[in-house]
Formats: sequence, structure tokens, C-alpha cells
Amino acid sequence: MNEFARKRRVALVGTGHRGAGTWGRELLANCGQWVEFVGLCDRNSLRLERARAAIGTAAPVFTDPHAMLSATTPDMLIVCTRDDTHAEMIVAALEAGVDLLTEKPMTTTAEMCRRILEAERRTGRRVDVGFNYRFSPTAKTIKEVLLSGEIGEIVSVDFHWYLDVQHGADYFRRWHAFLTHSGSLFVHKATHHFDLLNWYLASDPQEVFARGALHHYGRAGPFRGPRCKTCPHASICDFHIDIGRDPWLDMLYEDPSREDGYFRDACVFREEIDIFDTMSAAILYESGVQVSYSLNTFMPIEGHHLAFNGTKGRVEIRQYERQAWETPDEDEILVMRNFGAAERIRIPHQPGGHFGGDLALQRMLFAPGATDPLGQRAGARAGAISVLTGVAAVESASTGQPVKVKPLLDEPNAA
Ligand SMILES: NC(=O)c1ccc[n+]([C@@H]2O[C@H](COP(=O)([O-])OP(=O)(O)OC[C@H]3O[C@@H](n4cnc5c(N)ncnc54)[C@H](O)[C@@H]3O)[C@@H](O)[C@H]2O)c1
Repeated sequence: MNEFARKRRVALVGTGHRGAGTWGRELLANCGQWVEFVGLCDRNSLRLERARAAIGTAAPVFTDPHAMLSATTPDMLIVCTRDDTHAEMIVAALEAGVDLLTEKPMTTTAEMCRRILEAERRTGRRVDVGFNYRFSPTAKTIKEVLLSGEIGEIVSVDFHWYLDVQHGADYFRRWHAFLTHSGSLFVHKATHHFDLLNWYLASDPQEVFARGALHHYGRAGPFRGPRCKTCPHASICDFHIDIGRDPWLDMLYEDPSREDGYFRDACVFREEIDIFDTMSAAILYESGVQVSYSLNTFMPIEGHHLAFNGTKGRVEIRQYERQAWETPDEDEILVMRNFGAAERIRIPHQPGGHFGGDLALQRMLFAPGATDPLGQRAGARAGAISVLTGVAAVESASTGQPVKVKPLLDEPNAA
């Protein structure tokens, strides 16, 4: 029987916002003709039941991923748990002979990257990493412009990502705020950006020199409480949120928190927060390209500024996702030639998360006969290289020394 003559039997672990939403109900709406859920798993049984109803599936539910894998023998596992738990799920699926799609970051440490790559080699199964940004129409067009040779050989890149006081703060309300769970935003968030760079440049990072600081959240804050809902400073705190005003998050998290104490509105000023909120890195690529990268998390704008500087010209984009003024519902890529004319390429925003990137990624994975001429699908190696860039950045920011990326792929005692 042809691989696509029947629906792909998919199991999902991690039924939080991303699992229940993008990889649950949106996946069925977008690709339901090719996909069926055969199992859902979350260690929080209350969230799990709510997610099953929201997704609209009758698939059996499990609180143990290993039990789900052996009971349902899926074709594919989708991993949407907390970042530091991905490796355990990925290796278990590979060893059960199951292909998988993991949310980014693939994992959070060099040791876990090595374990995943070894398990993939040993089992011969396939790992896909959900780098949805590669799939936005704008990223695809930038890749095409770079491949056209229009700006000559790329020599440097300016890449600056801005998270605003809503989205940026959200990372400080939850587990992302702790190095041990997210690897820091150099891993959790920047994995997207480092992956985009690796894909755009078709080269691997060689060495990273980074800096990081905590200027605004955590112990830098003026006061603190355990969570917004019960906070005595609610009336004077700019970061106060009322979770009840978001019916989706309220449904998935608020009542289920009585099972595991996982609140969506924990205080952004908790003393114990140990990640940076302000980061920069100088990255040297094996191709010789020099990258200036930064990530800021309490800005009045959400979006990014990106420019490729080549021997014959420059490609530039300023993408705004949220800002205090009106912007058109499109991106504009500027292609500038040295001593020549500039061209504006306008790309309308597409529906769906990440300007259409989420839906395009899903169709690439599940639509029969999908082709991949630009190499947008990302495997475990791409997942690892982008994580290791972040791991190197954290180490560099801590030691003040540049850190080489590739040696992190080798076993510590390997010759
Ligand atoms: N690609 C993107 O743009 C994008 C966007 C948002 C989130 N993400 C990624 O998706 C993943 C999930 O994000 P989220 O915001 O939904 O997180 P979340 O913490 O809200 O949800 C994760 C769920 O996994 C469950 N879980 C955790 N450990 C588990 C375990 N060992 N076994 C079973 N269940 C377990 C939790 O109970 C929770 O319900 C993260 O890796 C995140 O980085 C990616």
C-alpha cells in the first residue's frame, strides 16, 4: 500500500498551548485528510482531557509517554513538552521505531544533542524539528534572493530580534525563565534565529562570542509576588495580566494548575529567575561570514531587523509583528545593488501562526507528494547545530571567552 493511501497515525505528547493548538486542532483543520490522532499524552490529566475536547478527537489519553508509544504504535510522535524533556521523548520514540516531529528547541544541552543524534543513527528513523520560521513566505523569498547570487558573496549579517513587553514577558512567567528547563533564551528562542542563519547561509557556525545580562525581569524588578492572580502589587504593576481574559489559556491552564501548580501568570520578577533578558553574540561561520546578533525581551516593538551584506549589495528586512503604529499587512524585502538600483519585494502576510509558517510546515510534513526544493525541512543535525550555538553563547557569556561550536558535538572523551 502506498505510504499515503491511509492516514498517518500520529501520537502527541504535551497538550499545552502549542500541542493542543498548533499541533492539535490546527493540524486536524489543515491536514485532517492525511492525519489521525491515535493517542494524546500529558502528565497533567486535567489539561489532557480539556485538550482532547478542544482538538476534537476521540483518541485514547495517557499520562505516560512510554505507555502511549507501546499501546498505540503510531507512525509519528509529535513532541510538545517542556524543552528539557524533549530528548527523553525523542529517544524513546526512535527506539520504538517511530519517526517524530519535535518542537524547537530540539533539546537544551550538548549532551542531549549527542544522545539524539546517536539514537537517530542507530535506529535509522527520522527526526524533524519544527522550524516554522523557515516556512514563512518571507523567509522563503529571502532564501531565494540569496541563492540567486544577486548580492554576490555574503560577508556579514546584522540580525536583531525584538520581543515586546507582552510576548517577551511571557517567557519570564513560566519555565522558560530557568536555565535548567529552557537552556536560556539563547537556546529556547534563539534556536529559531540561529537555525534561520544556518539555513540562509548554508554554512555552520564555527565560533561564538556572547554577552548576556538581566536588566529588567527577575531580581531586577521593583517588587514581586508569586503570581498575578493573587499579587498585592497588581494595581501598580505594568506586567500584571488577568489570565481569565484569555479563554483558551484559562481553559487549558487555570483549573488544571491544581494538579501540578503550573501557572501561566507567575511573577516576572521572581528572585530565582536565572536567564538573561538582554543578549548579544558575534558569530563566525565556517564560510567566513561574520554575524552580529542580538535578542532583547522588553521592547515597545515585536519583530526583527535582518540584513545580509554581500560583495555586490545588501538584502534588508524590517519585520514588525506588533508595534504602536500601523504597518501594512505585508513584509517588504529591500534588495539593494552596489552602484545600482534598489528593488522592493512585497510579500503579503499569510493566515496562520508565524505568517503562515506553521501551516506550510504541516503541509510539507503530511501532504502527499510534498517537495522540498529549498531544503526547508530540518532534521536532527540542524536541530543540534542551532541548539549548540545557543549553548556556546551561554558558555561564552559566562566565561568571557569565545567558544567553538562543533567540538560540542563530540563526546567529551572522544579522541
Ligand atoms: N515553534 C514555535 O514557534 C513554538 C511556539 C510555542 C512553543 N513552542 C515549543 O512547544 C513546546 C510546548 O510549548 P507550550 O507553550 O505548549 O508549553 P507548556 O509548558 O504550556 O505545555 C507543555 C505541556 O507538556 C506537558 N509535559 C511536560 N513534561 C511532560 C512529560 N515528561 N510527560 C508528559 N507531559 C509533559 C505539560 O504538562 C504541559 O501540558 C515547547 O518546547 C516550546 O518551546 C514552539
